[in-house]
Amino acid sequence: MDATGSTVRTDGLVREFHTGAERLTAIDDVSVEIAAGSVVALTGPSGSGKSTLLHLIGAIERADRGTVTVDDVVVTGLRRAALAGYRQRVGFVFQRYHLLPALTVLDNVIAPVLPQRRGRADRADRARELLAAVGLAGRERALPAQLSGGQQQRVAIARSLMGAPRLLLADEPTGNLDSTTGAQILDLLLDLRDRHGMTILLATHEQAIAARCDRLIRLNDGRLVEDVDLTDGEDPADTYDRASRLRL
Ligand SMILES: Nc1ncnc2c1ncn2[C@@H]1O[C@H](COP(=O)(O)OP(=O)(O)OP(=O)(O)O)[C@@H](O)[C@H]1O
Ligand SMILES: [Mg+2]
Repeated sequence: MDATGSTVRTDGLVREFHTGAERLTAIDDVSVEIAAGSVVALTGPSGSGKSTLLHLIGAIERADRGTVTVDDVVVTGLRRAALAGYRQRVGFVFQRYHLLPALTVLDNVIAPVLPQRRGRADRADRARELLAAVGLAGRERALPAQLSGGQQQRVAIARSLMGAPRLLLADEPTGNLDSTTGAQILDLLLDLRDRHGMTILLATHEQAIAARCDRLIRLNDGRLVEDVDLTDGEDPADTYDRASRLRL
């Protein structure tokens, strides 16, 4: 596997919603370039467009104008079959988990992987490893409804990593976790990035999470209003100072 992760670029990206006579511009002319292997915190108030931007980059929603380019592939120009292949390669953690209620935890993690890519036993082994890594060893046979919100969120994180994605789009992946578990999840993601190469774009409201990222971009009313390189000229270990400057 390429050890660098994907590069991501948006150019003049626009997404509008029409409800009755109202027109709302959820993403308003966003152009941003994300380097391969970087971990970027996407912040901004509720309703600022974080989820919408992640959905556009993940090709879960279609853009009204502008382009998304991932590793030189213009994702916004792909046709249906190629889009399905693209979605399969990107890891996505949904803000509301979207676990399948009738499947066990283990089968939820296995579910997105195309059957021909790995044997069932291989897939189950990998799913168990990922579940252990997110702290859910022993809960493989539970149903989502038997888990807490934070546990369901961790299943969703394990599922997103199943295909060893080079790009992970995570919508508030630690939003329902206590700060210790949230920090452990970020440890896991950063470790995977370091070992296998992965670009991570994660929406977050939490200073402690954003402060450990390489870069912070902030949206407001669908516009990109701030872009900070958090690795620039300071001690990466000094996250306290960074956190106090971030004003999330
Ligand atoms: N399907 C939809 N139909 C109409 N409006 C929508 C739809 N999805 C999102 N919006 C609107 O687009 C804007 C951006 O929403 P989005 O969910 O991207 O915000 P967010 O930054 O993720 O917020 P939060 O922090 O609450 O998750 C909001 O004003 C929202 O109401
Ligand atoms: Mg959101």
